[in-house]
Amino acid sequence: MAQGYSQEDGPVEAPPGVMNAKTICEPLSEIPDPAREVLEKWSQIPSADVVQHVNDVRDRAYEVYPWPSIGLYQFLDIHMLGFDSYPEILQSIKEGGLFLDLGCCFAQEIRQLVLDGAPAENVFGADLSIDLMNMGYKLFLDEEKLGVRFITSDIFDSQSTLRSEFKGRFSVIHASNFFHVFPWAKTIEVAKITLGLLSDQPGSTILGTQVGTKRAKNVAFPHVNKTAFFHTPGTWKKLWVIAAEEMGIQVDVQATESYFPSHDLHGWPEELEFIRLRFQIRRLS
Ligand SMILES: C[S@@+](CC[C@H](N)C(=O)[O-])C[C@H]1O[C@@H](n2cnc3c(N)ncnc32)[C@H](O)[C@@H]1O
Repeated sequence: MAQGYSQEDGPVEAPPGVMNAKTICEPLSEIPDPAREVLEKWSQIPSADVVQHVNDVRDRAYEVYPWPSIGLYQFLDIHMLGFDSYPEILQSIKEGGLFLDLGCCFAQEIRQLVLDGAPAENVFGADLSIDLMNMGYKLFLDEEKLGVRFITSDIFDSQSTLRSEFKGRFSVIHASNFFHVFPWAKTIEVAKITLGLLSDQPGSTILGTQVGTKRAKNVAFPHVNKTAFFHTPGTWKKLWVIAAEEMGIQVDVQATESYFPSHDLHGWPEELEFIRLRFQIRRLS
């Protein structure tokens, strides 16, 4: 473990915080692009029905899973479109590379990819919860036509289908709002497991965005009885360097702060100094 980093807590730079904020907002009166375009073009939902449909699915899902990702409509954010590398990633999947959306939940990124022409047989989703992946079919109305394989797996289960059947097979792994649900030590473990799922070809890529903070810290979430570690771009880079070193591989890690709309929209506590953290990790060797 690198100097200055504790095994359990990592580089805590600010006092621990408590996330006691809204996890649900008022029903939306408009569904913005690119989600609207996916719902109209891929799901074939008439334009006038999109708002009601999305609000209904959100409300039904939130009764079972009262998380911000559901209550605050984060399932409408299609993160990969914000990366300059998206066209290159799409092309690599069209040419046979395998893609995984890890912790995919409703799997909106997967719908964007298939809408953009990615072959469904090269696209996979994985999540702990089959219910959430099934809820994705209800949102996108595509159970009969999607043809993507969804794998129900706990990332920590070494016997799971994901880890036994797909070791070293993915050329692109997207994981948004996934790594930030874990404490520091668990995140290093998940980073190593994710690197193990990645193809050993140089250029294979892990990318996504998640909630970070201006000063790294542990944050407690009393409503779900969990604590998670929130990163700065600096601690996030360090974590991947540690994980890659422990795996004996080399990676290039890009991590930047970007605009965090939920912060403005839903009044999350200012003192938690949340940012949106965007990252791309490319395998060098
Ligand atoms: C905050 S949601 C993010 C969903 C989606 N990626 C997005 O950005 O909208 C985190 C997802 O990770 C999944 N998850 C949490 N722990 C997991 C684990 N141990 N193994 C696999 N998936 C897990 C949850 O079920 C949930 O769907």
